[in-house]
Amino acid sequence: MSRPRIAVVLAAGKGTRMRSSLPKVLHQAAGRPMLEWVIDAARAAGCERTLVIVGHGAETVREEIRGDDIQWVLQEEQRGTGHALAQVEPHVQGTLGDALLLVLSGDVPLLTADTIGRLAVAADRGDTGWGSMAVAELDEPAGLGRVLTRPDGGLDRIVEARDASPEILKIRRINAGLYALPAPEIFDFLRGIKTNNAQGELYLTDAVGDAASAGRRVELLTLENPDEALGVNNRAELSKVHRLLIERHLDGLMESGVTILEPGRTIVEPRVAVGPDTVIHPGVSLLGLTRIGSGCTLHQGAWLRDCTVDDGVTIEPYSVLDAARVAAGCRVGPFARLRPGTRLMERARVGNFVEVKASELGPDSKVGHLAYVGDAKVGEGANLGAGVVTCNYDGQRKHSTAIGAGAFIGSDTMLVAPVNVGEGASTAAGSVITKDVPPGALAVGRTRQKNLEGRAGGLRARRGSAETKEG
Ligand code: UD1
Ligand code: CA
Repeated sequence: MSRPRIAVVLAAGKGTRMRSSLPKVLHQAAGRPMLEWVIDAARAAGCERTLVIVGHGAETVREEIRGDDIQWVLQEEQRGTGHALAQVEPHVQGTLGDALLLVLSGDVPLLTADTIGRLAVAADRGDTGWGSMAVAELDEPAGLGRVLTRPDGGLDRIVEARDASPEILKIRRINAGLYALPAPEIFDFLRGIKTNNAQGELYLTDAVGDAASAGRRVELLTLENPDEALGVNNRAELSKVHRLLIERHLDGLMESGVTILEPGRTIVEPRVAVGPDTVIHPGVSLLGLTRIGSGCTLHQGAWLRDCTVDDGVTIEPYSVLDAARVAAGCRVGPFARLRPGTRLMERARVGNFVEVKASELGPDSKVGHLAYVGDAKVGEGANLGAGVVTCNYDGQRKHSTAIGAGAFIGSDTMLVAPVNVGEGASTAAGSVITKDVPPGALAVGRTRQKNLEGRAGGLRARRGSAETKEG
């Protein structure tokens, strides 16, 4: 019979070696605080409750990490991982007797839900099953705890790198900092541990070792992918874990039919979905909750955050899209900027040096060059010429602009909002439009051109003498 599973995430430590004013577990890897990846894995593993132990910067951590399902436990003084786990005892009392605590580290963000499940299964193995812990064989075990085993394969004890002899440091099997431990018994072992070690801390690893010495079977689960064991104690390790989170996702996308020409120069954050037959060129960043359809082409330097892009869209180089929705068959860029609230309907076209904000561009509409479209609704098939600006801000408030289907807005038109241009209407190039334009009308809002015959030479002469005087 399996025991109820309670996830306990250790996240109270200072993380001194990050040399940061930000609590360590809030440092971002692949676009999210490390702690969030760990909590997500616990959720996906179907743990009944998730307790997160916070201490250093507790307030900041609680503000930053969302989730009504999280139970926060305060470890006021950070006296080590064993002391941290001991803090949950009063919080799990109701379930004591048969709970399995899945103890995770907030700074080991590559772990998967699958591994959490396996840890639980390993702890329950056979009649003698008591607890389990994840280990990995690393080529460079560096500062991680070394795991000594018994002849029967179970845990003997764990020795922290800082307390290890040169002989023990040669061991490549390390403690990943992930355990399945039974409550309430683990608390008895935690009461017995001492601070007689190099760091003067209460080590959880000692409690687990003491349980093994007392005859409890601690099963070792060797991680098939040793990367999962990587913890973050400094910025170099953070960058490594960041890259691995991204790479794991890129591998999965390629497996599912996405072309990624240069994975080493591409960022696709783990929560981003991409449809098959989409081609991603180097230097592309797809961030947050972005969704890309199938058969799209994302050219070099495209940067998209929290966007939804339908099938068959082309994003030309160096375009920046933030919280925008792009329908099928659109073409955006190069050098376009779509800001939050932008919605492009089917086959719309936004060209170079065009900024769009909180606006809808209708199907087959075009804004090709050097324009600003803000707080506007542009109808189907409308065409906005080079340099068109929706003057949406009067210094105090934002106003909206409506442009009807099939309208033609001449180059360099200033549309002073609030203003409406009717269906099929046109504006003359260089117009300043302050009044509504009826459907089908041509609006001319500029001074009439005068040609002064023969005067060009005189003007040039006057300019010349002015320059001599000044010179
Ligand atoms: C710990 C393990 C080590 C293992 C490594 C895996 C111990 C003594 N050592 O070492 O064997 O190889 O993790 O990454 O457990 N924390 C608290 N309260 C504290 C201290 C720490 O909540 O008082 C939290 C930290 O925020 C962190 C986690 O526990 O998320 C691990 O602590 P850390 O100090 O990073 O331990 P390591 O030295 O990495
Ligand atoms: Ca650590």
